[in-house]
Amino acid sequence: MKIDILTLFPSMFDGFINSSIIQRAIKKNAVTINPINFRDYSHLKNQQVDDTPYGGGGGMVLRCEPLVEAIESVKTKDSKVILMCPQGVPFTQQKAQSLKKEKHLILVCGHYEGFDERIRDFVDEEISIGDYILTGGELPAMVVTDSVVRLLDGVIKENSYQNESFQNNLLDYPTYTKPQDFRGKKVPEILLSGDHEKIAKWRKEMQEKKTMERRSDLTKGEKYEK
Ligand SMILES: C[S@@+](CC[C@H](N)C(=O)[O-])C[C@H]1O[C@@H](n2cnc3c(N)ncnc32)[C@H](O)[C@@H]1O
Repeated sequence: MKIDILTLFPSMFDGFINSSIIQRAIKKNAVTINPINFRDYSHLKNQQVDDTPYGGGGGMVLRCEPLVEAIESVKTKDSKVILMCPQGVPFTQQKAQSLKKEKHLILVCGHYEGFDERIRDFVDEEISIGDYILTGGELPAMVVTDSVVRLLDGVIKENSYQNESFQNNLLDYPTYTKPQDFRGKKVPEILLSGDHEKIAKWRKEMQEKKTMERRSDLTKGEKYEK
């Protein structure tokens, strides 16, 4: 997969690209990630990319031309162009699963007051990472990239994420590691039993219990089998 990220702040991605699982995925050639400064596509003096809003009001608005030219410079027939936008469709694990099938993502990061509305005619979809406002689309682009890249083949072991929260509309089961007794708080006996069938049954029950207690809304999708 190739991910191009159009941003005014490419250096924000340095740590992200050079750390942890994302760095490993790049080294394994599972993904290439290119932050691209769309300021380079401005034809104006001082490489200006924003301007005041028509009709008045505070803040600056990103102009269409540099953004659209940057999109067009990397776009191919295999590209999906996604605008990071609080007005977009809320991002979910299911969406990450569907984006993992794409060959090329172009993530467009806004800033300031947002975009000239006409940019919407040049993108395939809009994603919000939640009902709050961030300064720019860089963190949302990292969120989307991280959640998609970890699902790509060979990046992490498939059994590491098959019971993860939101897979199958359930939250994850409780996990424990050493020591067996931490300040009187003991690891559940069943996990020490070595009986894998019973452990699997217990984990499923815990997933259902936790989901009902914390996120009963997830079960409305009713994808899981009892
Ligand atoms: C300050 S925000 C603009 C908010 C815009 N005026 C509004 O109220 O919808 C600047 C940029 O940050 C990004 N952004 C902020 N919050 C976001 C969110 N929750 N999800 C996705 N992108 C977000 C978008 O790219 C947005 O254009």
